[in-house]
Amino acid sequence: MALHRLTTLTLGVPDPVSVGEYYEDFGLTALGDGRYGTVNGGEQLRLVPADRRRAVALGIACDDADDLDRVGHDLGVLGFASTREEAALTAYDAGTGVEVRVEVAERLVEQAEPGVTLNAPGDVRRRNLRSEAILRDESVLRPRKLGHIVLSSLDEARSRAFFVEGVGFKVSDLTKEGLAFLRCSTDHHNLALREAPLQFVHHTSWELPDVDAVGAAAMAMISKDAERHVWGLGRHYLGSNYFWYLKDPAGNFSEYYSDMDAIVDDAEWEAGLWEGARSFYSWGPPPPEQMRAPEDLAELMMGAHSR
Ligand SMILES: [Fe+2]
Repeated sequence: MALHRLTTLTLGVPDPVSVGEYYEDFGLTALGDGRYGTVNGGEQLRLVPADRRRAVALGIACDDADDLDRVGHDLGVLGFASTREEAALTAYDAGTGVEVRVEVAERLVEQAEPGVTLNAPGDVRRRNLRSEAILRDESVLRPRKLGHIVLSSLDEARSRAFFVEGVGFKVSDLTKEGLAFLRCSTDHHNLALREAPLQFVHHTSWELPDVDAVGAAAMAMISKDAERHVWGLGRHYLGSNYFWYLKDPAGNFSEYYSDMDAIVDDAEWEAGLWEGARSFYSWGPPPPEQMRAPEDLAELMMGAHSR
């Protein structure tokens, strides 16, 4: 009885058609009506028209109705209203501007994908064979699931209370720069929050089987349009995952990742409070300025304030 994964992100964008074409190139499966799916997660992205890019709703899966009762109760204690349906509960987080829908849903059944066989000094495992990495077909480039999203909040402390004490996320790590890495599954993070003067999606992140797939998928995206490249290839520090960030036509970053830390026993994991560049990434190219402040931030701020 617990939360166990993200279900669907509803993303508002000014032009869902061009953004949808981007996510099809990205490897998601078009399901019709602005809906897109992953290999293991089913429908995980909905694109809806909006005046500016922003997260509209986020779905979180739980096991049963007892979880919904618990979430409704805990949100109520904090002063957040919620609406209960038979198999779901919805509540609004004013800090991120996102409607959260906790819903009873099946757990993911993931096929084991051990990745390519690696040779290492003193440990030659691939004998008399070319690497699988150069022989695989394009199906390996299709995201397996929506792993996490990073949202800005006008009030990070209040949003964190909403998601942690109310909905039931766990804190995996914090940074002194104000990022909170939260999980609702065994992944190191499924949601990260950061304070900002504007509500927007910093990035969504989609899992691929291994680093070879991350590199190949990102290069396929960039070879179609070099403007899509943002930052990669590298390995993060918090979560340890390989990453490569790209940008959709609305300005949302979308990350391919693989090999994220898994927290399978909460008692064995100690959340840290980190600071400095090292807490951001372990290795990779220097992060571009737009990772810290998106290039359309001023434009988004003007739009937000003129309404
Ligand atoms: Fe990420």
